[in-house]
Amino acid sequence: MSLTTTKKMFQKAYEGGYAIGAFNVNNMEIVQGITEAAQELGSPVILQVSAGARKYASHTYLMKLVEAAVADTDVSIALHLDHGADYEICKSCIDGGFTSVMIDGSHHSFADNISLTKKVVEYAHSKGVTVEGELGQLAGIEDDVNVSAENASYTQPEQVEEFVNKTGVDSLAIAIGTSHGAFKFKPGQKPELRFDILEEVSKRLPNFPIVLHGASSVPQQFLEEINQFGGNMPGAIGIPEDMLRQAAKSAVCKINIDSDIRMAMTAAIRKHLFEHPDHFDPRQYLLPARQAVKDMVSHKMRNVLGCEGKE
Ligand code: G3H
Ligand code: 13P
Ligand code: ZN
Repeated sequence: MSLTTTKKMFQKAYEGGYAIGAFNVNNMEIVQGITEAAQELGSPVILQVSAGARKYASHTYLMKLVEAAVADTDVSIALHLDHGADYEICKSCIDGGFTSVMIDGSHHSFADNISLTKKVVEYAHSKGVTVEGELGQLAGIEDDVNVSAENASYTQPEQVEEFVNKTGVDSLAIAIGTSHGAFKFKPGQKPELRFDILEEVSKRLPNFPIVLHGASSVPQQFLEEINQFGGNMPGAIGIPEDMLRQAAKSAVCKINIDSDIRMAMTAAIRKHLFEHPDHFDPRQYLLPARQAVKDMVSHKMRNVLGCEGKE
């Protein structure tokens, strides 16, 4: 198989009432864990790379890791830039072989977001690459941008048609109460998503793929293992999986998950080193870490996103 864009994936997901998982990658074990799960379950998948991941592992290493995964699997894989901050990083990823980019102009004014997104779309489409835009702001931390819950703002449905028509984006990320990181709600706060906004957006944008960022569910099992084996993450709380299942059946065609991968790996490594304090060969603890990524991704594909067998 070769790398694909998100175009066909989203069309099928929209019609089939399921969502594609977009998982963040920054090293070999993560790429392998995710794509082995996709291969075993016969599921399409999006591998996404942030600016921070690109800085950590380098564009070339990530590209080669993803190429290796593509050569090793028969499922559709898209390589996507996550939260592209400006035109330059989008262009660099498009020129460097990515099949999809996100231009995140959500912190700009509406008019500036439109002109920046439109510029990226024009270049991307001339190279056959798909583009995700964003309207509304999520709370949380991504690279250097830290948006507090008070400053996060829901997507305004009355803006979406103009944004999509004027920019030509292929998909749209919206803010309905999800947020980045492992601490999405305050202790005691009831997790809530604005499904009314999602519904209004999808009414205004018929047959158009919607994206949810910040969709990790912070499984209790990872949290307990991290806290039990020397970690300290009290009070982490994610998006309940039944809400994600509901979203996946709607116009939401892409669901972004990164924190759950981080927690799965960290929990497995902490547990392993606690139980085997004499181990110092990285392969000894990276093997269970990779398996933990694979198990977590398989669970999401099968029980939450509904994309198992949709290749
Ligand atoms: O939304 C952001 C992703 O979780 C990537 O995080 O910027 O720390 O690589 P990062
Ligand atoms: P989480 O932090 O909830 O995993 O969100 C990841 C994300 O939205 C990447 O763009
Ligand atoms: Zn995100």
